Amino acid sequence: MVEAAAILRGGGLVAFPTETVYGLGGLASNPRAVAGIYRAKGRPSFNPLIAHVADVAAARREGRFDARAEKLAAAFWPGPLTLVLPLAETASVCDLARAGLDSVALRIPANQAARGLIAAAGGPVAAPSANISGHVSPATPAHVLADLSGRIDAVLNGGACPVGVESTIVALLDDSPRLLRPGGVPRAEIERVLGEPLAGVEVEDESAAPRAPGLLASHYAPRAVVRLNADSLWEGEAGLDFGGRFAGAPAKVLDLSPEGDLAEAAANLFTMLRALDASGIAHIAVAAIPDEDLGEAINDRLRRAAAPRAGAGPAAA
Ligand code: TXA
Ligand code: MG
Repeated sequence: MVEAAAILRGGGLVAFPTETVYGLGGLASNPRAVAGIYRAKGRPSFNPLIAHVADVAAARREGRFDARAEKLAAAFWPGPLTLVLPLAETASVCDLARAGLDSVALRIPANQAARGLIAAAGGPVAAPSANISGHVSPATPAHVLADLSGRIDAVLNGGACPVGVESTIVALLDDSPRLLRPGGVPRAEIERVLGEPLAGVEVEDESAAPRAPGLLASHYAPRAVVRLNADSLWEGEAGLDFGGRFAGAPAKVLDLSPEGDLAEAAANLFTMLRALDASGIAHIAVAAIPDEDLGEAINDRLRRAAAPRAGAGPAAA
């Protein structure tokens, strides 16, 4: 950990565990380190990064907090919520990490080792998911190394990530709080704390300047072709099941949660997608998953995994 922090301070890249997925960290104030992140991932540099901070005081130096931001930070940090806020005058996150935007995405991860690393690094740590751009997000150190071995300086080993889907991203840039990406904190919990519904991203906003470019269609892309909402398995398909629907099928089946628990399913999602993909199967059928609670984030990632890739434009995040 001391060594990992020294690597970050020197402008190097360290993959580290968070409660959601592994992040590929570099010092957010250092454009060379941030450029290294984009390069290691093969990520288009217009796609801004989340700045991870160790505590709320550090977050306040980077972003301008209004009453809504204070409420959400008090309720959900440390945890899987990212707030996109207007940039503060005292901010240290460099332009490249923000892709030139005058806003900044901030989050305090729940993982204690991650917060220790960030505190020891001496400033915000920019970190996208630690995978090659367009691949499935990593939930274990082995996933990180499968994609990034030889491209990064170190991996801080913290075992498997308990949440398994990325943070929920909420933008507080105008009168309407907006859900930019569903994630580890369910929409309903955020709306309860805010006392108002979350708006979506307007389409004209997206074409002008993507507010969350990570939402481009082919983001979570396994090699296999993915078919959603399957009732049963077709010839030649492997199954990604939920609640035991494909039980007894004469094919390779992994069940996200035999008991139908959405939190367990989220935690297993990327690991099981990768495992099915690694088995060399060409077609994956996915059982229907309720679109409530963490199911909203799971279904969002699955729709991206199933989106056609050819001509889908630059892969993101
Ligand atoms: O759980 C997570 O959020 C993980 C862990 C490592 O913290 N990180 C993660 O980062 O998922 P990444 O880079 O894969 O996704 C960050 C998303 C992207 O979709 C990006 O477009 C959006 O955040 N984003 C970052 N800064 C933004 C900004 N200023 N305005 C709008 N969207 C922003
Ligand atoms: Mg990502």
